[in-house]
Amino acid sequence: MAGRWAAFVGGLGLTTGSLVRFDEPMARRTTLRVGGPADVLVEPRDEADLAKVVAGCSRAGVSLTVVGRGSNLLIRDGGIRGVVVSLTQPAFGVIEVRGTRLHCGAGVRLNAVSIEARRNGFSGLEFLEGIPGSVGGALRMNAGAMGSATFEVVQSVRLMERDGMVREVPASEMAPRYRSCPLLRERIALGAVLVGNPGISEAVRERMEAYSRKRWESQPTQPSAGCIFKNPTVAPAGKLVDELGLKGLRVGAAAVSAIHGNFIVNEGGATATDVLTLIEKVRSLVFEARQVALETEVEILGEDVFSGGAA
Ligand code: EPU
Repeated sequence: MAGRWAAFVGGLGLTTGSLVRFDEPMARRTTLRVGGPADVLVEPRDEADLAKVVAGCSRAGVSLTVVGRGSNLLIRDGGIRGVVVSLTQPAFGVIEVRGTRLHCGAGVRLNAVSIEARRNGFSGLEFLEGIPGSVGGALRMNAGAMGSATFEVVQSVRLMERDGMVREVPASEMAPRYRSCPLLRERIALGAVLVGNPGISEAVRERMEAYSRKRWESQPTQPSAGCIFKNPTVAPAGKLVDELGLKGLRVGAAAVSAIHGNFIVNEGGATATDVLTLIEKVRSLVFEARQVALETEVEILGEDVFSGGAA
């Protein structure tokens, strides 16, 4: 198997700066710390090498998955077939400030965006401070916190089509939804222009500190994938879970956090199956008690150990 993949990657003509790993355990690349191996993991050196991978996979009919910082990902125990791409190299991690705009690569951490905005005296981006992801992941998921969502501050997105072509698309054409941007399911976010408001007041500084404090107090620090469920319209998912007394419910080493009902934490050595079984338990208990069908917010990828088929 590894031989087949080595031949495939060898045929792509990547430069030596691109990193390629075979059978790469994905658990260490997600904040939840579960999940099996990727057949191939590529960390391209730059957009040109990324285009070779993307176009090569399209031509050969090889499945291509893009992962960010893995902070909203649940990878099944059988891992991911085909090629996984991660934009971790410096070329994707650049932030440039132009006026009140921040040009950010997909690999830039959201925390760094909020710090850079504050350093340059912009407000409006402070909600990004506590989201543990990258710009690419935040675009793909329209990630949010503190009542704001990513696309509220995006002016345009730089993306790559599956044939390797790069386009700049105005945010008005991206059609984001609550916690998703369907256009980026197929296309790969390379970066975005984020817009802040000039001027930063003492009130904004205080708001950032309050956000940070609130997060430390209300969210667990153990390994997790952030919020597991989308908030249904009736009430926040964490509140529903809490009201039903489900905090502390566990399967194997996966447990509903004692701190926040919408987090499942890995207490050490949990498997994806533990987490998925716990998710189903919570879903059915909430449905029985409240007739609310919780939908997962976390992105679930890969295949089960024994299924033999792609998910
Ligand atoms: N609540 C409880 N018990 C709990 C958890 C929450 O009663 O165990 C109550 C809180 O007291 C509050 C309400 O539920 O009245 C909402 O809770 P919180 O303010 O923590 O916000 P959330 O809706 O649960 C959302 C985002 C988080 C983000 C926080 C902070 C979603 C699904 N979640 O959580 O995002 O960090 O706001 O702004 O939108 C994520 O996307 O992964 C994530 C964690």
